[in-house]
Amino acid sequence: MPDTAHSAAAFPATSRAKQIRVWDLPVRLFHWLLVVTILIAFLSSEEESALAPWHIPAGWITAVLIAFRLVWGFVGGEHARFADFLKPGRIGHHLASLFSGKPERSIGHNALGGVAIIALLGTVAGIIYTGATMQGDAGEELHETLGNILLGLIALHVIAVIAMSVLTKDNLIRAFVTGRKRADQHPGISDARPPASVAIPIAAVAMGSAAYGITLIDPVAFVPGAHAEAGEAGGGEAGEDGDD
Ligand code: HEM
Ligand code: HEM
Repeated sequence: MPDTAHSAAAFPATSRAKQIRVWDLPVRLFHWLLVVTILIAFLSSEEESALAPWHIPAGWITAVLIAFRLVWGFVGGEHARFADFLKPGRIGHHLASLFSGKPERSIGHNALGGVAIIALLGTVAGIIYTGATMQGDAGEELHETLGNILLGLIALHVIAVIAMSVLTKDNLIRAFVTGRKRADQHPGISDARPPASVAIPIAAVAMGSAAYGITLIDPVAFVPGAHAEAGEAGGGEAGEDGDD
């Protein structure tokens, strides 16, 4: 049973708003690094781009980030855990609160957000897979299509984050930077349980293994410009003949 009596109520409105810890630092770092690597992957995706040598390394670094997130979903802080936000049974309830015009605040990710997270991470994983196994124009087309789907999901995600922040007056973006939310807006909620004590070593091993596994598939995975086929002009139409 949560102890609700003293957190918000005992503080007069004039005192500085009390904050509760919600998001652990690694999950926030993960998110903003993911934004950077995906931005680089998009900016570098055209052969003519000055950033083209970085496309494949950025994609592989993204893969290492995804490996981190999979593990962190089991050992991370309370609201970073999959069990905390993958709640299919609550999606209906959440939608009802949205359509009632009074969406409820959520301390961690809400149930619909959980679906968005799986869609975002799943699409990113699909892009990495199709990038790594790309052979010929058909493979590239699938990779690009998933890239376009990801752009749509990101637009939806950012719109949803802003809309929920406005509708619930709970600044989600600030919270995902500082890790904290205002206690008075979440009465009865206490600081999130921190990550497991072995979480950092486990995550480090997962990321190290992922990076090592990637170099077994692609020895120059993290070397910018080492992949001639991604940055090189010429010979690109070689797959044209006999493609049915
Ligand atoms: C490449 C673009 C982006 C991708 C792939 C992405 C993906 C994600 C993912 C996977 C999560 C879940 C975090 C976790 O628990 O691991 C998340 C949460 C979040 N993202 Fe993004 N994101 C992107 C861009 C942005 C941008 C530009 C913003 C700010 C405007 C933003 C704001 C947030 C916020 C506030 C949350 C937490 C939402 C909540 O309170 O439940 N994201 N994002
Ligand atoms: C999140 C990661 C990634 C994103 C968002 C992404 C996105 C894209 C996009 C939008 C294109 C443009 C396709 C076109 O216009 O023809 C592209 C091309 C390509 N991508 Fe990725 N990609 C990612 C990761 C990867 C990875 C991990 C690899 C390989 C291991 C890879 C290999 C390639 C190659 C070889 C091309 C063709 C480039 C060219 O025609 O010059 N990508 N990618």
